[in-house]
Amino acid sequence: EKGGFPSFMDKEIHDQPQAVADTLLGRMDPSGRLVLDEMRIDESLLKSIDKIIVIACGTAAYAGQVAKYAIEHWCRIPVEVELAHEFRYRDPIVTEKTLVVAISQSGETMDTIMAVRHARQQGAKVIAICNTFGSTIPRESDAALYTHAGPEIAVASTKAFLSQIVACYLLGLYLAQLRGNKFQDEIRMILGELQQIPAKIQRILDETAQQVTDLAIAQKDTESVLFLGRHVGYPVAMEGALKLKELAYIHAEGFAAGELKHGPIALIDEGKLVFIVVPSKRGRDSLHAKVVSNIQEVRARGARTVVIAEEGDEEVRAYASDVIYVPASPTLMAPLLTTVPLQIFAMELATVKGLDVDQPRNLAKSVTVE
Ligand code: F6R
Repeated sequence: EKGGFPSFMDKEIHDQPQAVADTLLGRMDPSGRLVLDEMRIDESLLKSIDKIIVIACGTAAYAGQVAKYAIEHWCRIPVEVELAHEFRYRDPIVTEKTLVVAISQSGETMDTIMAVRHARQQGAKVIAICNTFGSTIPRESDAALYTHAGPEIAVASTKAFLSQIVACYLLGLYLAQLRGNKFQDEIRMILGELQQIPAKIQRILDETAQQVTDLAIAQKDTESVLFLGRHVGYPVAMEGALKLKELAYIHAEGFAAGELKHGPIALIDEGKLVFIVVPSKRGRDSLHAKVVSNIQEVRARGARTVVIAEEGDEEVRAYASDVIYVPASPTLMAPLLTTVPLQIFAMELATVKGLDVDQPRNLAKSVTVE
């Protein structure tokens, strides 16, 4: 059932092209219009929402953080992303015009269930983005948009994360279509870009995984790793750090690269391993330049810099100890690619340390207690 892979996690990393493709499948009509049959919320209500709050935990919350950039950009609706367990213990401003999006692979995360209940009590409509058909969160929500990643067995989430991002993007495009924020041909173009992602993930698996594995083996005695990113690369950095903590039990932190000089740069010393997720240069030149200067800053202080960049980006080479190239894609699509080497790095580092990558210590696949 591991399909010949040494672990479920390894299999699920390799399932990702299919998981993304399946999550996109059947959601467009022949004219290129997005149809989300499951979206059983009154269209006039969806047109009138003035705020979106994403609630989730862990990796699912990072998917929400990625989606915030896309949904705000496409729909011009403010999006807040909040950890489910924090959301319910404050006094959140939730009205009938708030759309709450609950993201959960298992659909059974108690913190998220309680947040869904809290939101609905206050009159919000809740859409669940979930991978487990018929589980509690979609059952208790007003509508469900399923990710079709297939069963995720390994405790650490991989293919569910990418599918959650894709599902959130579908939701964002659907809202943009409904509200007339975007022209149909623009939406079709973005969907077309999403459809190219599975083949690009496959190329990373085929062409880049070995380089990442070798790096993990060489770094097996590392005690602390930092991850930096900006824009959508920021939640990717946090996801990379979470994977490493969970699987390899080493200290890891993800930062917004711009935050470095406000404190974290003090952590940099000789040989410190730092991953930097670099945005595409096309279209967002200033963002790219800022991240390049962040690489320089840590490199000048002795860090070993592992740069995740787009193919063809030669500029980063000068400051990189290692460059891991991923296929070119529009900025908003990049997390679906840049996350993959970070997943592989964490898995391989744990493997070389002799750890159980499918069942890390102290963790359970679904956290059904608060
Ligand atoms: C990380 C991980 C957890 C889950 C979190 C939410 O690899 O698996 O952080 O993402 O516990 O779980 P779900 O998505 O089932 O609500």
